[in-house]
Amino acid sequence: MNAPATRHADPLVIRSMEFTGPMVTADGWRPPASLPEVAFAGRSNVGKSSLLNTLVRRKKMARVSHTPGRTRQINFFKINDQFTLADLPGYGYARVAKSRRAEWKPLIEGYLAGSRELRGVVLLLDARHEPTEDDLDMLEFLAELGAPTILVATKIDKLKRAARAERLTALARQTGMSEDQVIPFSSETGEGRNDLAQALVDLVSGASWRDEVSEAPPDEGGV
Ligand code: GTP
Ligand code: MG
Repeated sequence: MNAPATRHADPLVIRSMEFTGPMVTADGWRPPASLPEVAFAGRSNVGKSSLLNTLVRRKKMARVSHTPGRTRQINFFKINDQFTLADLPGYGYARVAKSRRAEWKPLIEGYLAGSRELRGVVLLLDARHEPTEDDLDMLEFLAELGAPTILVATKIDKLKRAARAERLTALARQTGMSEDQVIPFSSETGEGRNDLAQALVDLVSGASWRDEVSEAPPDEGGV
C-alpha cells in the first residue's frame, strides 16, 4: 500500500543510548523512576531484541538470541536522556521447563503494576501465528491495568501480500484491537520502524494514564 502521507523525517533520531541496568526480581533494583518508560513484551523468540535494535538503528543494543528463553531480567535502556525502554524477558517459550515458565509472571507483572513512570506497553506478536495463551493473558493483564498498548506484528517479511492482510485482520480480531492499532514490522526490511518510533514518541510525550485513573497515589513510604 502506498500511503500518501509518508513521513520523511525520522520521528526518533537516536542521539544517545545507555544501558542503565537490569531488574532481576519484582522487589529488586530498578532505575530511578525519573523518566517516562515504555515496556516491550512478547513471547520468547518473537523478535523483540531484533525489533529494539532496528528501532534504535544499532546492531547490538539488545542481544539477538540463538537460544530463546534465556533472558530472565528486565533490561533498561535510556534513550536521548529523555525516556527509558524496558526490555521484558520473553515469556512462554515451549522448550523452557514449565516450572521456569511461570517465573516471568511476578517479575513482569510486578514491574508493570508498580512503575509510576510507565506510559505504555508495546506487545509483540509473531505475524504468522495465532496469539498464544500467554499473549492473551498478557493482553488481559494490560487491559486490567489500563495501560495503553501498542500491538506489533513481527516478522511480517515472512508473509506474502495476501496472507499478510489476512493475518493482520485476524490478529486485530483475536486481540480485540482495531486494525490501526497493529503495526506490521520487520527487522529484516525495516518496515514499520518509523511508525513504531512515532507511536513511542507520542506515548512518552503524554502524561501517564495512571494520573488520569487514580487521583491520589497510594502512600508507599517513599522507595
Ligand atoms: P528471546 O530474547 O530469546 O526471547 O527472543 P527475542 O524475542 O528477543 O527474538 P530475537 O530478536 O532474538 O529473534 C529470534 C529469531 O528470529 C532470530 O533468529 C532472528 O534473526 C529472527 N527474527 C527476528 N526478527 C525478525 C524479522 O523481522 N524477520 C525475520 N525474517 N526474522 C526475524
Ligand atoms: Mg531477546
